[in-house]
Amino acid sequence: MQVLVVFESMFGNTEIVARAIGKGLAASCEVDVVNVDDAPAHWDGLGLLVAGGPTHAHGMSRSGTRKGAWQQVEGGVRSATGIREWLSALPKAERRVLVATFDTRIRKARWLTGSAAVGARKLLLKRRGIPLAPPESFFVDVGKNATILCEGEQERAEAWGALLAARLLETAAG
Ligand SMILES: Cc1cc2nc3c(=O)[nH]c(=O)nc-3n(C[C@H](O)[C@H](O)[C@H](O)COP(=O)(O)O)c2cc1C
Repeated sequence: MQVLVVFESMFGNTEIVARAIGKGLAASCEVDVVNVDDAPAHWDGLGLLVAGGPTHAHGMSRSGTRKGAWQQVEGGVRSATGIREWLSALPKAERRVLVATFDTRIRKARWLTGSAAVGARKLLLKRRGIPLAPPESFFVDVGKNATILCEGEQERAEAWGALLAARLLETAAG
């Protein structure tokens, strides 16, 4: 079953998380991990789409918030566009596609930080995606010029990828 992980990342943390999720999934699935800038315009034929990005201003990034990040990164950010734009442009799925979303955000209560994963999930469900798991967050600490993934989060992301793979196999079997 084909699995695609699409990530958006400004400072690199969400990319690390996405690649770890891909690693966890790859133990039992065929998986591609792509930057949202290079993501395909269609998703038919996929068994599972996993999409994630950084939380900006309590939700998914917008061009204005990405500009804010751009100014903090020497040499530019990792993604020029965002998952909000990419998911919004996806057509409705013609066949069943399972979906899961994740984000990176500051380690505080979700009502304080917001969550990009919750917004991304809404967009996917509107396009007939079927949720495989609740939205998941991975945590960052605020550094001087950027944010840094908290200890243990890369490993937790890999474990979450493995959990998705196990659920996917269960769903396919029954
Ligand atoms: C413009 C901007 C707005 C942000 N707003 C929030 C926010 O509302 N809530 C939060 O938890 N983190 C916020 N952050 C921190 C980001 O979530 C964090 O930088 C991101 O998870 C790091 O991922 P990345 O390295 O892949 O860009 C913001 C960061 C930027 C640059």
